[in-house]
Amino acid sequence: MRHLMSPLDFSVEELDQLLELASDIEKNPKKYAHACDGKKLATCFYEPSTRTRLSFEAAMLNLGGSVLGFASADSSSAAKGESISDTIRVISCYADICAMRHPKEGAALVASQKSGIPVINAGDGGHQHPTQTLTDLMTIRSLKGRLGNMTIGLCGDLKFGRTVHSLINALIRYENVKFILISPEELRIPSYIRDDVLRANNIEFEEVERLEDAMEKLDVLYMTRVQRERFFNEEDYIRLKDFYILTKEKMELAREDMLVLHPLPRVNEISVEVDDDPRAVYFKQAQYGVYVRMALILTLLEITV
Ligand code: CP
Repeated sequence: MRHLMSPLDFSVEELDQLLELASDIEKNPKKYAHACDGKKLATCFYEPSTRTRLSFEAAMLNLGGSVLGFASADSSSAAKGESISDTIRVISCYADICAMRHPKEGAALVASQKSGIPVINAGDGGHQHPTQTLTDLMTIRSLKGRLGNMTIGLCGDLKFGRTVHSLINALIRYENVKFILISPEELRIPSYIRDDVLRANNIEFEEVERLEDAMEKLDVLYMTRVQRERFFNEEDYIRLKDFYILTKEKMELAREDMLVLHPLPRVNEISVEVDDDPRAVYFKQAQYGVYVRMALILTLLEITV
């Protein structure tokens, strides 16, 4: 039985296969409409979500399966003090596969160790968000035609932004990928990514504070919101929350074919006037999230069509 905790749980070859499957699902949705007949997905979300939970549910419904679960810790027996280990042992009796989001780093890993069914990490604290990474990879691959030979700008809250950490881990495995890390001093990438991932693998990167200094060099700009829920005090959040706002004027500095991605939700960091720019692909990205989650469910349940 396989779980998904980090994008590195799949080899590059396995990732390519999964992205190929997701592309086939996008092109031929009817072919997969009954692939999961009789199967159940449990979505156990201890932290708020719109896209991840609902795209998982849409993915299982599109495959002909059913969904059950909870959308907050308060509406589960976690509110009475039940451990994750006990919860997953029980969920294993009710469902065939589980997607779990939790505010604590490592929670999904703990669950996987006691689970009788595959567990998918749907975001654990500030640590990893592998299915967002699969979504991001599919978006870049589908719209750029490649995952290597590019310069990616990651902008915003690089300290707490788990999608950024997962994406860097995944992209360093492709050839000639360079990063420009754009953040204020307080929200710089953690040393376990800078030193243990980027430097340890001799990946080219630079750290800058001004978005304008990076724009013209980028093939992809990955915007992120400042993660209010992970700040220790509100004052710091308020001071930093509008540090970056991507506007039409800033987009004029970018290449004609640069893509703007954002895992969403957006707060203020991309002005709504940018939404009409054909390079702004963050809503398309959310759609790709359904296809990759369909492909992931099929892969972990070892269902071939
Ligand atoms: N991108 C993402 O994880 O969005 P949600 O928090 O709405 O699931």
